[in-house]
Amino acid sequence: MKLGTVNIDSRVALAPMAGVTDLGFRAICRELGAGYTVTEMVSAKALCYQDKKTLPIMELGSGEHPAAVQIFGSDPACMEEAAAIVAERSGADVIDINMGCPVPKVANNGDGSGLMRDPEKAVRVAEAVLRGAGGRPVTVKMRLGWDKGSINCVELAKAMEQAGVSAVAVHGRTRSQMYSGTANWDYIRAVKQALTIPVIANGDVFSAEDAVRILKVTGADMVMIARGCFGNPWLFQQAKAALEGKPVPDPPPLAQRCDTAVRQFRLSAAHKGEKIACLEARRHYAWYLKGVPYAGYWKEKVCHVETMEDIDRVTAGIKRDLK
Ligand SMILES: Cc1cc2nc3c(=O)[nH]c(=O)nc-3n(C[C@H](O)[C@H](O)[C@H](O)COP(=O)(O)O)c2cc1C
Repeated sequence: MKLGTVNIDSRVALAPMAGVTDLGFRAICRELGAGYTVTEMVSAKALCYQDKKTLPIMELGSGEHPAAVQIFGSDPACMEEAAAIVAERSGADVIDINMGCPVPKVANNGDGSGLMRDPEKAVRVAEAVLRGAGGRPVTVKMRLGWDKGSINCVELAKAMEQAGVSAVAVHGRTRSQMYSGTANWDYIRAVKQALTIPVIANGDVFSAEDAVRILKVTGADMVMIARGCFGNPWLFQQAKAALEGKPVPDPPPLAQRCDTAVRQFRLSAAHKGEKIACLEARRHYAWYLKGVPYAGYWKEKVCHVETMEDIDRVTAGIKRDLK
């Protein structure tokens, strides 16, 4: 598939997730079959104010290509400047605009899914980002609409195509649904039928079979996985195999899964520092242990790790006690 001039040779992508898809996790997902990754959302305002803490969020790993940096905001001038900063400093192949974030602090400010309530502004934002992107492809990630009475993904996606964006990703929920209920893939199909640019389908893909089904139902060009890969980056190789008509491999045994988790945490620690990486590892490690029989004791332990040494100690215990 092509996003503008950028070639993507896998149909399985990792979705952007604030607080989850940091450089370490993205590296592991890529190793295990994600052909395209998107950073956590980056505030355009923070970029324009040259907030130092924001720059690492948009750093890509070595070899992490093709990949997108996602920005959010709704002021066209600021979004243009932010896109130019991303283009200049991150090495991103693609710049993605967030039009889906439902968090009140973001959406009620007119950013994220708030842009779906103001399609004219959304178009001005897309045009501004295209100007700032310096020729890099620009994509948009959206929901179905603000609420069920105002579903406008088809119209907005068409307006985005007309503005010049290279692809749209659609999460099959409204902003009001947040993450509840089930994703409606029929609207994603309607978007696909209305556009000529590629469409990326997203929402409720938790297994390899779901990945096959969402592409079948929607006719979309690529599937984007979010919550399904929490603690389970093997979902990418499974989905990839299923889509290629190959046997779906089982995830490796627990000891090997733990080694992968620890490798992820080391990559994150090298990037953002041991302290923050270990705090964030607590949640990830608990996800890696989800469904493991008799893991209660060790799940409690991972919730208190503070250093890589703690993580190594807990990991040795898990490998000794659990299967
Ligand atoms: C913890 C979390 C953080 C998220 N952060 C972002 C984000 O920064 N940008 C974005 O476009 N979507 C974000 N999303 C939405 C996901 O990318 C995705 O659209 C949504 O979770 C639906 O896919 P799923 O059903 O596979 O989880 C986030 C979702 C979760 C659960």
